[in-house]
Amino acid sequence: MSDNRYMNAITQGVYVIGSKLGDKKNLMTAAWLTQISSRPNQILVAVASSHYTAEILQKEPLFSISVLAKGQEEEAVACGRISGRKTDKTKQEFCGEDADGLPYIKDAAAYLCCEVKAVFQAGDHHLFAAEVLSGETCGREPMRYDADKFF
Ligand SMILES: Cc1cc2nc3c(=O)[nH]c(=O)nc-3n(C[C@H](O)[C@H](O)[C@H](O)COP(=O)(O)O)c2cc1C
Repeated sequence: MSDNRYMNAITQGVYVIGSKLGDKKNLMTAAWLTQISSRPNQILVAVASSHYTAEILQKEPLFSISVLAKGQEEEAVACGRISGRKTDKTKQEFCGEDADGLPYIKDAAAYLCCEVKAVFQAGDHHLFAAEVLSGETCGREPMRYDADKFF
């Protein structure tokens, strides 16, 4: 096979990573995220090394994950097309801020608060292994990633 369709067949959800560095806050859409441990709960998220989020997570270990719900495509696109280096994506009406000052997406299916424990380089991405410190669900059905819908 010469195209990437077999990679797009790997099933994923759609998430938004909320981070902050000093008074700068950022939101980034990510589909390449998975659980890697249960005791304790840990996840792994792949962030392109050039992204602002990769820079922030190497300096500030605390970040949020909003598990987007079905119907939140607009939020996914708004946080997944421009870099936080150029614009403040947290100034949008669907964005909230938690007690730690981390931005998140309102009305998502679930929220997690995470702390980076290890960082690896894999090709053009940084892999952040993070412990889930807390979380809550909101009863909505999570969105499933469909590459054809976004790219
Ligand atoms: C649906 C969707 C899924 C995405 N998944 C990822 C991903 O898993 N990893 C990644 O590095 N970028 C992913 N992106 C691209 C980033 O969200 C995008 O480049 C973003 O503007 C980077 O923001 P930042 O520079 O503020 O960190 C995705 C974008 C969309 C729309």
